[in-house]
Amino acid sequence: MEPQTPTSRRVLVAKPRGYCAGVDRAVVAVEKALEQYGAPIYVRKQIVHNTHVVKTLEARGAIFVEETEEVPEGEIVVFSAHGVSPAVHDEAKQRSLRTIDATCPLVTKVHNEAKRFAAQDYDILLIGHEGHEEVEGTSGEAPDHIQLVDGLDSVGKVQVKDPSKLVWLSQTTLSVDETTETVARLKERFPTLIDPPSDDICYATQNRQVAVKEIAAESDLVIVVGSENSSNSKRLVEVAKDYGARASYLVDNATFIRDEWLDGVATVGVTSGASVPEELVDEVLARLAEHGFGDVEEVQPVEERMRFSLPHELRKDLRAS
Ligand code: F3S
Repeated sequence: MEPQTPTSRRVLVAKPRGYCAGVDRAVVAVEKALEQYGAPIYVRKQIVHNTHVVKTLEARGAIFVEETEEVPEGEIVVFSAHGVSPAVHDEAKQRSLRTIDATCPLVTKVHNEAKRFAAQDYDILLIGHEGHEEVEGTSGEAPDHIQLVDGLDSVGKVQVKDPSKLVWLSQTTLSVDETTETVARLKERFPTLIDPPSDDICYATQNRQVAVKEIAAESDLVIVVGSENSSNSKRLVEVAKDYGARASYLVDNATFIRDEWLDGVATVGVTSGASVPEELVDEVLARLAEHGFGDVEEVQPVEERMRFSLPHELRKDLRAS
């Protein structure tokens, strides 16, 4: 039997959603660098994990590279919001590159924690996803002291020298609930494990998860706008499912939405990851409106006002011009 189209169809849009202060700062840093110094501006890795943002900056003259060795000597390179290890800074120096460091200040905070605990000879358990750029950057601060804990299964494999000097830190974009569970398991094994001095999962990741939980409970389907390589966006899909949505999908943009997802659906929840510009959400809402989802309500359980100033290397030149 064909699913019935519900007579009333509505959309719940989560707020906060989309750009966080760290992403905004990184994207504006590349835009201002292009204006100030002219194209090309090299960017190591995707400045933020969003395909649309990367393509837009490419069209304006940014060149994205995987490693600093691909940047011609003496050119300008921007480091992405996810942060880099000290080895990358050294390489850039050796190649006489001019660097603009767009690492999110909240990632830098975790780097500083790692350096501080390593200097006191702690073993550091870094909860995060293997291969993620942020994890590589943070691990590079103290490779001899940090071991990665990627998921509950890896808790049993952790080896420490001295359990009385043991701290956990984390990637900034994890699921809050899953991390709490991982830490609880780690503490069963190592009761003397200490917590980071302040939350490593950043305010933006936490707020977007709080907001998606609120809409998921009332939605048949939750659409998360975000790219496949965006950790915080993927976590929103998982959280939506855990908190009551019958289905949840990650879409890069509105063209990824399949008509059959909407069959029999009365309420669609919409949110977006921290690296997603609002225009992509607007396009999703327009697509949903074509299917009769014209009634749009914003649900905002938390206020968000964070802003970061531009990288100091850039600010100095902007002031001088
Ligand atoms: Fe920074 Fe969190 Fe955004 S670490 S880049 S504010 S997702």
